[in-house]
Parts: sequence; structure tokens; C-alpha cells
Amino acid sequence: MTRTYRITLLPGDGIGPEIMAVTVEILRAIGRQFDLAFEFQEALIGGSAIDATGEPLPEATLATCRNSDAVLLAAIGGYKWDSLPRSQRPETGLLGLRAGLGLFANLRPAAILPQLVDASSLKREVIEGVDLMVVRELTGGIYFGEPKGCFADEQGRQRAFNTMVYREDEIDRIGRVAFDIARKRGKRLCSVDKANVLEVSQLWRDRMTLLSSEYADVELSHLYVDNAAMQLVRWPKQFDTIVTGNLFGDILSDIAAMLTGSIGMLPSASLGSEGPGVFEPVHGSAPDIAGQDKANPLAQVLSAAMMLRYGLDEPEAATRIEAAVNQVLDQGYRTGDLYAEGMTLVGCKAMGDALLAALESPIPA
Ligand code: IPM
Ligand code: MG
Repeated sequence: MTRTYRITLLPGDGIGPEIMAVTVEILRAIGRQFDLAFEFQEALIGGSAIDATGEPLPEATLATCRNSDAVLLAAIGGYKWDSLPRSQRPETGLLGLRAGLGLFANLRPAAILPQLVDASSLKREVIEGVDLMVVRELTGGIYFGEPKGCFADEQGRQRAFNTMVYREDEIDRIGRVAFDIARKRGKRLCSVDKANVLEVSQLWRDRMTLLSSEYADVELSHLYVDNAAMQLVRWPKQFDTIVTGNLFGDILSDIAAMLTGSIGMLPSASLGSEGPGVFEPVHGSAPDIAGQDKANPLAQVLSAAMMLRYGLDEPEAATRIEAAVNQVLDQGYRTGDLYAEGMTLVGCKAMGDALLAALESPIPA
């Protein structure tokens, strides 16, 4: 029996529409193979939404997303919208989408593909075999904490402030997601905080420690965030699953991404306790190469694989897409961001064609 899924596509800005177009073709092909029917509905977000409606996240977009099984997002932002007031910036649309759909858990895997070891700026022996997952809390912490604002003090000097705040239940629910993921991976969870300085981090650490009694098979450790940043570049193989708050996760996930040297390869998933998840590449909208057929579509395609695995519970289809990505890399196809001598330089569309061909051919043993 055909299984039908309603997918909201948010192509966004910059290279977004190009990498989304490739990904939709891949999903159609995978649908034919696995008897899945996708009903795609497209909506506006980010700069393109600002241009069309004046707002980065129109109410209609949120409604369309809510009314779907999963949301596939490409990228938002660009120079054009950088100087608008904060409420009208593309980033505000993204934060609104996270909050609006209750997406408190952000999964950012960073695994080194053997074909791309030389793309990293770190030594081969340091990064070969790295396979880690950053679980970032996404709807709390200093990103959303109240009060916040900017005001003039008695002497007329501007003062600005934000609040880093977590409630115990917010810590527990992201903790549970992380422990569950660690359990399915290497059974090691490292919680990252700044408990030597921050009260909010002490509570974070205490709750994680308390939770660990429910997960006797997972080994929990703690690191301060500065040390964690250092350890990630010193010896990343020590990590399996990392769990941390919103701001620390923002920073550490960029470090983790760059370990691979190929941020154009990394997907992510944002999940709530119910309703559709949002699946998107870690990279941005790359306005400098937009519209030139130069973008690497693989992170978007791998985000579709994450959507199948974590959002739609179609792990076989997800694995098939991941295998196709492996196949095209083995065949030597590279977009400009990953190009090295001896490889075949392709554009975004040609990479999509190579993927389609790989999907039609048997997986090499
Ligand atoms: C990310 C981005 C966003 C964030 C920005 C664009 C708001 O850096 O997804 O990591 O800070 O969360
Ligand atoms: Mg970031």
C-alpha cells in the first residue's frame, strides 16, 4: 500500500531554491522505489517572504507547516535584508518557526565521510572516523529568555541585556531526547555547560545527572563549554553524543560541522514532542553563489534522508538516499566547495542527475 506524506517545502533564499529543486527530484525517485507518495506544498519564509509580504514568517506559512507531516527547509537570509529591524529579519522568521512548531530538540550530526577526509583543515589522524551528534536545545535559553531589551540608563548610556534561563522540565525533555539518541549510538553522552560560573548551568548539570539514573546503560559525562570547544578540535573522536543549551549548541555545532571540512554536507533535524519536524541543512543561503548552479545540494538531500528517518519513520528510504550520496562521492563527483584535483567538478543540477543515476543503479557491495 502506498504511504502518503504531506511535505511543506520552504526553499527560502539564496541557493535555497536550487538545492530544494534537486531534493524534490530525489524524493520523487525514492517515492517510486519505496511506494511512498509525497504531496508537496510550498510556502514562503525569510527574505523572500519579507519581499512578498513584509514579514519573514507569514502566518500562512506557519499554518501550512502545521498542516503537514514534515517540513523541509533550505536556507534563509542574504545581504539584502541584513539591515532591517530585528523583527523583520530572515533569522527572526527561523526563530519564529522553531518556537511556533515547538521544535525544542535540534539534532546536528557531524560524521567524516572517508572520501572527504582531506577536506578538513585538521590532520587525517585526528578526524578519520569522527562520528558525533550534537543535540542542541532549540526553543529556550538565552535565545528566548525574558526579560530582554535595550534601554538608556540614568546617564543616558545604552544598555542591552538578555536572560539565559532554563526550567527543569525544559532541561529534562531535551535530556531525554539526548539520552535516547546516545542509547541508539555509542551509549556515551557528554553534557556541556558553564556550571563553574552560571546558575542556569548548575541546574542543567544537576538535572542531567538526575536523569542519568533512568539510563544506566548510557555513560554520562560533563564538560565546561570552553573545554568542550577545545576538546572538539583537539581529539573529536572522544565524543559520541553531546547535549547542550541553545547558545552553546549554536557555537559547538559550527565547530563540529567544520571538523568535517564540508559544511555543505551536513543535515539537521529539529523536533518537537508532537507535530511535524523541520529538516534543513546546517549551511546558510550562500548568496555569493546563488543562481549560478554552483551550490552543493548534498546537505539538503541528506536533510531529506533525516526527514524520512526521524520525521516519517521510513528508515529504509533514508538509508537508500544516504547510500546514493556515498555512491556519487565514490564516483568522484564534487561541487566546487569540495573539489580536489582528479575529481569531477559538477554543478548543483549535475550532482542531482548523478544522484538520480545512483538511485537507479544497484548499491555497490
Ligand atoms: C543556526 C543559525 C541560527 C541560530 C540563526 C540563523 C538564527 O546560526 O541555526 O545555527 O543562531 O540558531
Ligand atoms: Mg548557528
